[in-house]
Amino acid sequence: MAGLEGDIMRAHKASLRDRMAMYNANTLKIGLFGANCSSGRAVTLVPERWSGSWPDNLQLARMADDAGIDFLLPIGRWKGYGGDTDYQGATLETVTWACGLLASTRRITVFGTVHAPLFNPVIAAKEFVTADHIGEGRFGLNLVVGWNEDEFEMFGVKQRDHEARYEFGQEWIDAVKQIWSRHEDFDFDGKYIKLKGVRAKPKPIGGTRPIVMNAGASPTGRAFAIRNCDAFFTQASRTSLDETAQRVQEVKVEAQKYGREIDVYVVGVITCKPTRKEADEYYRHCIVEHADWSAVHEILQKKNITPETVGEHEFKRQRAHYANGMGGLPIVGDPDLVARQLADLSSAGLRGIGVSLVNYADELPFFCDEVLPRLERMGVREKAAAA
Ligand SMILES: Cc1cc2nc3c(=O)[nH]c(=O)nc-3n(C[C@H](O)[C@H](O)[C@H](O)COP(=O)(O)O)c2cc1C
Repeated sequence: MAGLEGDIMRAHKASLRDRMAMYNANTLKIGLFGANCSSGRAVTLVPERWSGSWPDNLQLARMADDAGIDFLLPIGRWKGYGGDTDYQGATLETVTWACGLLASTRRITVFGTVHAPLFNPVIAAKEFVTADHIGEGRFGLNLVVGWNEDEFEMFGVKQRDHEARYEFGQEWIDAVKQIWSRHEDFDFDGKYIKLKGVRAKPKPIGGTRPIVMNAGASPTGRAFAIRNCDAFFTQASRTSLDETAQRVQEVKVEAQKYGREIDVYVVGVITCKPTRKEADEYYRHCIVEHADWSAVHEILQKKNITPETVGEHEFKRQRAHYANGMGGLPIVGDPDLVARQLADLSSAGLRGIGVSLVNYADELPFFCDEVLPRLERMGVREKAAAA
């Protein structure tokens, strides 16, 4: 069955494998990362920077859905970073954002990004099920356990130490998965989470559950993802594809020890223009000459990255790194170069990439018109189904 009805029929079956494949045969999944936040992931002053408004998000999601983009991944951010632009100061809460977008699209997978310590697991599990029903099996969960201390203070919630955060996260995801799957009433008696007589209907679409991802960078965070998640976001090496391939392989081998399958993704920041010169110039214009350096300063301060703590050389490197997508892999070039680099990432074993653009809606049409067909010809993407 083709078209919309076919999509919905598939979604009703919604096996976990179908969900992980995002209901298509693209070898390399491409998603948009960070569009729910003002400025997205570009710490820049340029006037065309992303607004993060609802109308702009809705327009972007529909455009991405029609063009065959695979997923939308929001950032769970509660408080802006300040600076001249109050970087990421205006943010749409991610689960309600996902619900609105799932109701307005047909194919694309939409994630919610949830800080486990801030959400009661019963309410959270039910919200995810609601989103999953709205999206006919297209909701995904990005589970985060906490990053910025002052965000938690705003909720009156104390950040646990790093290990305990993931210990709590383990109970939280165990509880959520049980709420999704158990049909009889049950109690949950954890160290941190205690629930009595839990009953939750309906269940997620298709007798399975939403895909769960995590992006822990520490050994504990990575181990958590390997034990619990279907997708793991890691850093691509900036210098060596072989190194990236090795990182992917290590995660997959580790997952196999637990009898689990896990897809590995990275984050990228794309500047794609008709010529390399134009791409280089635009990148320089936005991310160097017109970076919001006062916001970068705030970001670095929060992470305690100063010349004193890391040394002058490393500080300068990190400073540039954070202006550009807060650390995503920069991919700057004409469509041939961008497509080549994306195909290389696929050949390194990566399942996909979450990308950001300075102005997502302005830049996406050129990317979809020029880069996606090249990726089809390279065999890492299929042709987007007709709307
Ligand atoms: C792709 C990606 C998405 C992330 N999304 C968020 C987010 O939305 N909110 C948040 O507080 N942290 C987010 N993080 C931070 C991670 O969840 C994690 O806390 C961070 O990478 C540090 O790793 P650790 O917790 O293992 O120390 C993200 C990281 C990556 C790479």
